[in-house]
Amino acid sequence: MSQRIDGHPYPMIQALEQYRREGQTIGFVPTMGCLHRGHQALIEASRNDGNLTVVSVFVNPAQFGPNEDFDKYPRDNDRDYELAAAAGGDIVWYPDVADLYPADAQTSVRPGALADKLCGISRPQFFPGICTVVLKLFNLVRPHQAYFGEKDYQQLAIIRRMVADFYLEIDVVGCQTVRETDGLAMSSRNRYLTEADRDTALTLVRTIEAARRAFAEGERNAAALKTHLTKAWPKDLELDYLDFREPDFLEEEHQLKAETRLFLGAWLRGIRLIDNAAIG
Ligand code: PAJ
Repeated sequence: MSQRIDGHPYPMIQALEQYRREGQTIGFVPTMGCLHRGHQALIEASRNDGNLTVVSVFVNPAQFGPNEDFDKYPRDNDRDYELAAAAGGDIVWYPDVADLYPADAQTSVRPGALADKLCGISRPQFFPGICTVVLKLFNLVRPHQAYFGEKDYQQLAIIRRMVADFYLEIDVVGCQTVRETDGLAMSSRNRYLTEADRDTALTLVRTIEAARRAFAEGERNAAALKTHLTKAWPKDLELDYLDFREPDFLEEEHQLKAETRLFLGAWLRGIRLIDNAAIG
């Protein structure tokens, strides 16, 4: 039976105390809700690892810029509960903004160089906001394992760094990107896309496929491939970045290798789209 807890963390902490005493390991899946199969895959992974699984649903104001979609970010708490429970979530927790950011709170987390590139350039508030809320959530849930998607690969790398830098005893588990049948990476924001947008949005995964083909055919020059891929980019899709990076520190890669990842960020009529994958 899944348990739904709204608001203040205390009942959630109490419920977890009981499980901890019984020797149960805790798995944690932080989300911003509007759940889809990508989120469900993280919940299933935690469950398959034998954890009592906590899912948090919290649209975190600190990671949105002043002109971004915080107010209209899709929220659907009842449906989220159903989907989290169906995937095997044991506790689904919905903190309120005042629970995580009480009026007297002052302290935030400032991530380092990993956060200054890719999404961090156009969205400077994004990763500090994520690290701050994730550290708060980690300290309340105190999980043994925490699950994050490779769809947000830079986020995953930054969280791993934060866990190491602050000596948190949490095993961070990365999970593969779950895609729609047409290849589009699942995202809560996909519901903003019209039928016509959708074809344009597929540019991201098609570009990854094109990079993979080029690599398979022997292309090793990152700059040449970047120029080639950028030329084919459609006009109605605003490109934020198209970068080849190594997988650990996300430094730019000049000579392509199998583990090199292509990172893509774009806006389609203001809708944020990202994707990434290894090219080998
Ligand atoms: P959200 O976008 O809701 O994503 C929650 C988790 O689900 C993240 O770890 C994300 O990488 C993962 N995820 C999303 N789409 C996925 C997909 N198609 N395949 C696999 N995993 C996917 O990421 C956030 O929320 C927030 O930044 C958060 C970490 C909760 C902090 O507020």
